[in-house]
Amino acid sequence: MPSHITKAVIPAAGLGTRFLPATKAMPKEMLPVVDKPAIQYVVEEAVSAGLRDVLMVTGRNKNALENHFDRVAELEATLEAKGDLAKLQRVTESTDLADIHYVRQGDPKGLGHAVLRARMHVGDEPFAVLLGDDLIDSRDTLLSRMIEVQGQRNATVVALLEVDPAQIHLYGAAAIEATEEDDVVRITGLVEKPSPESAPSNYAVIGRYVLRPEVFDVLENTAPGKGGEIQLTDALQHLAASETDGGVYGVVFRGRRYDTGDKIDYIKAIVQLACERGDLGEELRPWLRDFVATVGD
Ligand code: G1P
Repeated sequence: MPSHITKAVIPAAGLGTRFLPATKAMPKEMLPVVDKPAIQYVVEEAVSAGLRDVLMVTGRNKNALENHFDRVAELEATLEAKGDLAKLQRVTESTDLADIHYVRQGDPKGLGHAVLRARMHVGDEPFAVLLGDDLIDSRDTLLSRMIEVQGQRNATVVALLEVDPAQIHLYGAAAIEATEEDDVVRITGLVEKPSPESAPSNYAVIGRYVLRPEVFDVLENTAPGKGGEIQLTDALQHLAASETDGGVYGVVFRGRRYDTGDKIDYIKAIVQLACERGDLGEELRPWLRDFVATVGD
């Protein structure tokens, strides 16, 4: 079934306090992962899944983010005059990537509230939500698979990853039932950031969602939950429990994911991605091996 999904929503209004002072004057989405801002990987992922219409939900101090996806005539002219076409291409790549729109979340009241800010732009169609802290390797086609499952089942679809039970308190956790497809489960319940003892499973929601527009009405009526914020997980729990609206399914991801949400994971993501890069890996890998041999515990 051909997909009719064309829109991606990327919430990007967070304050990035875990990365202070780097994020004092710069949005966390602009932190470089090797040599590209984290947000560019996410937009590239949306575009690879066929979603060229991208809405970013931003907030205060996000000008650098908007500028990154705009032309920089002066810089382009200088590189062109020098004949440095490789660098020119690196500059224009983010400008030509997608059709990017912005809406502001004036009063950041949580992820559910950020998604609700997309209502006007999205209208009455299914759409994808991509969270910038999770990067999915470009060789893994998670989002395309989720869009396919959404089309086949006309349901709400989230990405799930099996995590160490000790880590489940960092995520939305899903109660699941198997389906006839190995990588698809039916979600019967969702809890935002449960304690390991109360978690329904160790299947964590990672930051990719393909939602039906019905979620907006549910979000309108979702009371603040964990942390006093309007949680997308709570709205999805409502949809999972309701008899109508097609239910909620999880696509179980078994590919490569890089978490950039906190400092240690961010450093790991950079090392992993750099090691795999054609232009850097060959030099970095042996260095890293030697370096690791010299560091004690
Ligand atoms: C958000 C969601 C959570 C999800 C996580 C994935 O939490 O609320 O359900 O598991 O993203 O990264 P955050 O990490 O923004 O606190």
